Amino acid sequence: MTDKLNLQSLNIPEEKREELLRLFPEVRTEGGQIDFDRLRLALGELVDTGKERYGLNWPGKSACFKAIQTPSMGTLLPAPEESVNFDTTENLIIEGDNLEALKLLQKSYIGKVKMIYIDPPYNTGNDFIYPDNYSESLQTYLEYTGQTGEEGKRFSSNTDTDGRFHSKWLNMMYPRLYLARDLLRDDGVIFISVDDGEVDNLLKLSKEIFGEENFIASIAVVSNPRGRQSDRYVATVHDYMLILAKNIDASEIGGAPLTKDQAAEFSLRDSNGDYYRLLGLRQRGSASRREDRPDMFFPIYVKPSDLSISITPVDGFVPIYPKKSDGTEGRWMWGKQKCIRDKELLVSRLIERRDEYDIFVKDYLIKGEEERTRKFKSIWDGGNYNNQFGTQEVKSLIKSDAMSFPKSSRLIVDACRMGLGGKDIALDFFAGSGTTAHAVLDLNKQDGGNRKFILVQLPEPTDRTDYPTIADITKERVRRVIKKLNDEDGNEKQQDRGFRVFKLAESNFTPWDGSIGQSPEDISRQMEIHIEHVRQGRTDQDILYEILLKSGFPLSIPVETLQVDGKTIYSISDGIMLVCLDRTLNMPSVQAIVDRLPERVVFLDEGFAGNDALKVNAKEACKLKNIVFKVV
Ligand SMILES: C[S@@+](CC[C@H](N)C(=O)[O-])C[C@H]1O[C@@H](n2cnc3c(N)ncnc32)[C@H](O)[C@@H]1O
Repeated sequence: MTDKLNLQSLNIPEEKREELLRLFPEVRTEGGQIDFDRLRLALGELVDTGKERYGLNWPGKSACFKAIQTPSMGTLLPAPEESVNFDTTENLIIEGDNLEALKLLQKSYIGKVKMIYIDPPYNTGNDFIYPDNYSESLQTYLEYTGQTGEEGKRFSSNTDTDGRFHSKWLNMMYPRLYLARDLLRDDGVIFISVDDGEVDNLLKLSKEIFGEENFIASIAVVSNPRGRQSDRYVATVHDYMLILAKNIDASEIGGAPLTKDQAAEFSLRDSNGDYYRLLGLRQRGSASRREDRPDMFFPIYVKPSDLSISITPVDGFVPIYPKKSDGTEGRWMWGKQKCIRDKELLVSRLIERRDEYDIFVKDYLIKGEEERTRKFKSIWDGGNYNNQFGTQEVKSLIKSDAMSFPKSSRLIVDACRMGLGGKDIALDFFAGSGTTAHAVLDLNKQDGGNRKFILVQLPEPTDRTDYPTIADITKERVRRVIKKLNDEDGNEKQQDRGFRVFKLAESNFTPWDGSIGQSPEDISRQMEIHIEHVRQGRTDQDILYEILLKSGFPLSIPVETLQVDGKTIYSISDGIMLVCLDRTLNMPSVQAIVDRLPERVVFLDEGFAGNDALKVNAKEACKLKNIVFKVV
């Protein structure tokens, strides 16, 4: 095992290969590779070997895999001065390109995100899309944001006269959706806003990536009730929100709160004061005949004097059978065992107009801890879902019209009601003005939840002076939402109302440059550069967060700073990992760190100052205590 901390982001193909080998151990070759012939055999008839394939294709699709598989050599630099409650919050706002950010988040957030909401550029002809997608990289980002080269390249828009108008959009979306899926929990869900321009492509694309069986719905959202008057023949009032699950059988989808009228149906109260309504025990609608479920046709006994119920025959009780309104034999909704188990929920009534007894079930407004909800419908229409509401919300918060077409926070609150449990993480990697953070913070306030958000936003220039980039709008809008909520309630419940800002940049460590020649002179020149391999101007905090990210710790993890034998060390997760970035290590201080018995310890290579004996001794000291020893 090498002592060098692996500074690359997660190796995606390697992960997928391991996953496949876990599923089909029989296809592993001696060298740990996949035997595809055996895999075909293992899958029996299910392999389609024909040349003509069903599916969406476009120029550049196969090159998308290169974009997915090239690991990121970037890092995320913390910016505490732009954050709110940096030390305690678990929310993140990442400024940078989302493809790189999604790669960098893989190690720490794989399988941790419950819900993703994205509102990518609709490709209207005015949106910025990277011009050269297959070779898109950290370098492209740095050039566009003016971090390398003379000055920033222009962010130009993808126009519909471009010969590759749709392909460019698809090349941009494919790798991002692919990587996003890996971040979702098994019960996770993704929501994607889109309009008529790309909905056909996005439906096919997302079904390909998530699996057709995991499609949940395409919601029509009435986003512009007045209708778009610039349309030629029909004024469009809606756009779409596509919803897909990572695994439809594992997902839990929340419902909408009841309307006042619906809640009013639960007008009866039991002796505990809990509201309920009565539902007939007889099955209504389809499959409601005796022959449909003969085991659910049986008598339930009622005592006429006090209407008490028995499932078994008792003297003085009369048998009641499920009878359809046309007089034919029906069936109950419950089997006999369930009736015995939940007998206290059954109620009998005399139906006077028929002079017959019937059986009902008590249906409570609140079941256990859970407030009753109704299923969301496939058309979302209501005053507060529209874009005008969203625009007003942002304008009144940031006192500027710098953001065009933000979504309504009410729309995303309802998406969160469907996809996000009370303590889960929501991710939005096309964050715009930060509406998703607004929605999460609002919903937490409404129901006392503790949901978290991760936003990613490009510092796309706005050509304005009040907010020079969209990322500036994101951060300021969320700051102002937090202030507003705190002013309203003083944050009595101590909810997480903060965020840590991180910015995408080149790794803190200059990589070994493979393009430099291999002659002894070249190698000795590289080694010289590498003696001080930390990039100039980077702080210990910068290095620390790169170590966390690349060791698979979430960026929100609490970090404690300690002094041990005169050296500053960072203690992660109550001392599980200790990081020492001191440049003048000696054996007593190394030993003092080792004696704290972390599971893993990370030192800076420069700390050993070329003293190989010290490094070997440090490694031995760790080995003696079963501590993983790493240097960066
Ligand atoms: C339609 S807007 C999102 C609006 C957002 N839902 C709101 O309510 O404000 C899309 C955003 O994605 C951003 N974006 C485009 N390409 C990006 C990329 N590669 N990485 C990160 N953000 C990107 C754009 O700057 C733009 O702000």
